[in-house]
Amino acid sequence: MCGIVGAVGTTDVVGVLLQGLQRLEYRGYDSCGLAVHRGAPLADAPWPSERGLVRARSTARVAELQAQVQADGLRAATGIAHTRWATHGAPAVHNAHPHVSRGPGPDAAQRAPRVALVHNGIIENHEALRAELQARGYVFESQTDSEVIAHLIDSLYDGDLLAAVRAATARLHGAYAIAVLHHDEPQRLVGARAGSPLVLGIGSATDGPVPHYLASDALALAGVTDRIVFLAEGDLVDMALGRYRVVGADGRALDDAARPVRVVELGSQDVALGPYRHYMQKEIFEQPRALADTLEGVEGIVPELFDDHGIRSRAAWRVFGETDRVLILACGTSYYAGCVARYWLESIAAVPTTVEIASEYRYRDSVPDARTLVVTISQSGETADTLAALRHAQSLGMSHTLTICNVATSAMVRECELAYVTRAGVEIGVASTKAFTTQLAALFLLTLVLAQAKGRLSAEDEARHLRAMRHLPLALQAVLALEPQIIRWAEDFAAKEHALFLGRGPHYPIALEGALKLKEISYIHAEGYPAGELKHGPLALVTSAMPVVAVAPNDALLDKLKSNLQEVRARGGVLYVLADADTHITSGEGLHVIRMPEHYGTLSPILHVVPLQLLAYHTACLRGTDVDKPRNLAKSVTVE
Ligand code: F6R
Repeated sequence: MCGIVGAVGTTDVVGVLLQGLQRLEYRGYDSCGLAVHRGAPLADAPWPSERGLVRARSTARVAELQAQVQADGLRAATGIAHTRWATHGAPAVHNAHPHVSRGPGPDAAQRAPRVALVHNGIIENHEALRAELQARGYVFESQTDSEVIAHLIDSLYDGDLLAAVRAATARLHGAYAIAVLHHDEPQRLVGARAGSPLVLGIGSATDGPVPHYLASDALALAGVTDRIVFLAEGDLVDMALGRYRVVGADGRALDDAARPVRVVELGSQDVALGPYRHYMQKEIFEQPRALADTLEGVEGIVPELFDDHGIRSRAAWRVFGETDRVLILACGTSYYAGCVARYWLESIAAVPTTVEIASEYRYRDSVPDARTLVVTISQSGETADTLAALRHAQSLGMSHTLTICNVATSAMVRECELAYVTRAGVEIGVASTKAFTTQLAALFLLTLVLAQAKGRLSAEDEARHLRAMRHLPLALQAVLALEPQIIRWAEDFAAKEHALFLGRGPHYPIALEGALKLKEISYIHAEGYPAGELKHGPLALVTSAMPVVAVAPNDALLDKLKSNLQEVRARGGVLYVLADADTHITSGEGLHVIRMPEHYGTLSPILHVVPLQLLAYHTACLRGTDVDKPRNLAKSVTVE
């Protein structure tokens, strides 16, 4: 999804801007661009002959933008850059950011840009603003909602960029993170955020003024600085050479205590592909390590496991003691992790649990309950719908909040009372894999903590569950060794256009996740169903052209599932069954069985999802799709 990088320094910042964009590439984008101000002297180069705001944009990759910029010899000490994921207006150069305003009037096109702006988010009242600005003589070059902000700032500018941005943002409805340059203030960069993330980075200099940076994600600044100020909702930041000032929504300057500088670990993010063909494949194979890291240091079941993310002091004991119910809010794959957890929370901890898609919850009338623990699950920690659902729950008076999140520096972690930060490592493939299995591990820990708080976890059970969790990385290695058999299944699937995935109990969400993985990266239409629901409708779809995948662990529902599979076979459906070794389901005519290495009991969803990830991956490879960046999708969905 869209990304922002900005910088104000004394030396050339173009390299920093491009490197930042490259670090954000994995989130998905369809165009990119940058604008620099050449009106200030460079400490390490002669004063440029062409002054003012200069822009470069591309609908190709950031590498192409880089080549373009290098060919033009673009160097400057102040600049902003952007990767765009189209929402308003097609992916095209004229819609790519930065957008500029050249002021009003019919001759505007001949004038040099006065304002340059990059924007993440969606402006809901852009049509009304566009009409108003057009009536005042502004000429629009793009179909985007973002361009209105550039013209609005220009119309309000009276010698002070911060004042103009403040006045403009007061008129915006919707979500935004913006970074703005003005022709008349070459060493100034102003940012603002509401609903979309934005951070300030503080650089270092041996002599001379310290450079400052702006980014939509601290990761964009890895290798540049690890000293980060997280801007809060409604904040504006005014950056000039060697100094910055954060201003709150009410216009008052905020001191270091209100917006502290944090040192964040960014350098350790491993983004090298190594021997793998795609990031998704790498991330599937990283799962044993990701699980081991996520569970590292878990010696026993204690509430403090959810307390330890160093932002504020926490009160996990009190929160779990006061929890009567759990409400899980999440989107996509993270939502399916929540659906698995519901089975665990109700059967092991006996805590009534509801799981809800965040984008639905945030807009419906619901009945709040102060003794409900609101749990958000998010890989990125910046998903707009999940954040909005969290804030909605808080606004209804539900103050006990906990997040399971893969990014320690994310808004989700900052805004929740408790957190468990999974250590999957940066996930670059758009299709979530290692984030999902580590979320499940964290959710199982949450189940055990709540079971303990409710007096439902004996010391023997605790020891047994912990043993099983510690064995997960090894068990996963054995599952990954099934890859050659999965590739044979993928060869059948690559030629299909539809597929059904069946499961029961906690493996029903695994079936949903298997279907989601297949559809998003191979573009095969796939649906997940609880196997018992088959005869209530979807059985009508079953023919030899519709492969049916069944997740068949040896659990209490196995016999029921076997009957469901008979129903499929009797209609000529071809079955692909992931069966535990002791299920006595064997391959035969129209029935392909892969045996899972061992029966894993309660934690089996964590293992059964892995062959489904591999099936989607290899099917997509055989169909030649862009596995890591499937069409129309972005990694971090920071807009509604
Ligand atoms: C699917 C996928 C998405 C995300 C969803 C939520 O493979 O990755 O469905 O799970 O967009 O994202 P996070 O977990 O970052 O909140």
